[in-house]
Amino acid sequence: TPRVFSGIKPSGGLTLGNYLGAIKRFVATQGQGMETIYCVVDLHAITVWQDPADLTNATREVAAGYLASGLDPAQSILFNQSQVSAHAELGWILNCVARLGWMNRMTQFKEKAGKNAEKQSLGLYAYPSLMAADILLYHATHVPVGEDQKQHVELTRDIAAKFNHDYKVPEFFPLPEPVIEGPATRVMNLRDGTKKMSKSGESDMERINMTDDADTIAKKFKKARTDPEPLPETYDELSERPEARNLVDIFAALSDTKPEEVLADYAGAGWGQFKPALAELAVSKLAPISVEMARMMNDPAEIDNILGKGADRAMEIATPILHRTYDIVGMIRSR
Ligand code: TYM
Repeated sequence: TPRVFSGIKPSGGLTLGNYLGAIKRFVATQGQGMETIYCVVDLHAITVWQDPADLTNATREVAAGYLASGLDPAQSILFNQSQVSAHAELGWILNCVARLGWMNRMTQFKEKAGKNAEKQSLGLYAYPSLMAADILLYHATHVPVGEDQKQHVELTRDIAAKFNHDYKVPEFFPLPEPVIEGPATRVMNLRDGTKKMSKSGESDMERINMTDDADTIAKKFKKARTDPEPLPETYDELSERPEARNLVDIFAALSDTKPEEVLADYAGAGWGQFKPALAELAVSKLAPISVEMARMMNDPAEIDNILGKGADRAMEIATPILHRTYDIVGMIRSR
């Protein structure tokens, strides 16, 4: 059976980008006859400094976001990465398979490191090979992600292929497919339609947080940068209008339609009409989730309990695969 794996970093709060590009897609994979595994990747989060108390809180918040959005621990395995030590163990082996030249091509590292590459952690550089370990440890076949993670999943395929080739085990690691679907695979910054919406942008006005209240959501969409033109009739006409296209894409993703259908309803409308409708739609979809997240965050023991049980189930899959990997590599395991 196909096996789905994906993860989200607990570094700051969840954004509308994480919701539409990842969590909503994760929920859609449930009940489709696939095994689904969703991780909170705390080991990845510490590749940049995280205050320990904030990390604990953010880990629970991502888990609460999963649960409140409809991921069901009876149908999906939900856990935090550090509770399954096999991730770090396979990560090391894959560090020895991945080539420096491959890592040097990773655009996300280059963007994050900027001119200050010398000051970044070694972990940030190795980040994509730990991500490969996350996926390969379960022999996952499908990886739902936003557009920004495509290169990392492709690197995972390269690492898997090199391992299979070098150790002459051609079928050992399946090459996983990135699944990048829907109208919101790259939700853009509300103040600059050429930049991705991210947890770490300077201004809170750039992003919608999953925990924003109704007034804040309305205010952020109202102030979102647009252009003076009304909405066009065809999607092609948005190709040079990144901010406008972004809001149409968000509308489509939130309402489970296509951008073309949104335009069929709103062609000719101005922003004074479209933005309040978008804000109302966003609030109607996000408010129930944020209320449930807040409720869950009042009971951290319950969240931790779910993550612990998920980790046990994850280990049942991961441990035999890790042990076979050690055998293939030639490591003695005599107890
Ligand atoms: P992270 O935590 O940055 O983002 C989590 C997921 O949200 C998607 N995403 C977006 N989608 C659309 N528009 C946006 N503006 C936007 N921002 C974020 C991301 O594409 C991602 O799917 N490296 C990963 C975490 C990870 C992982 C893995 C993913 C670690 N191991 C194994 C898949 C499989 C990351 O940093 O995601």
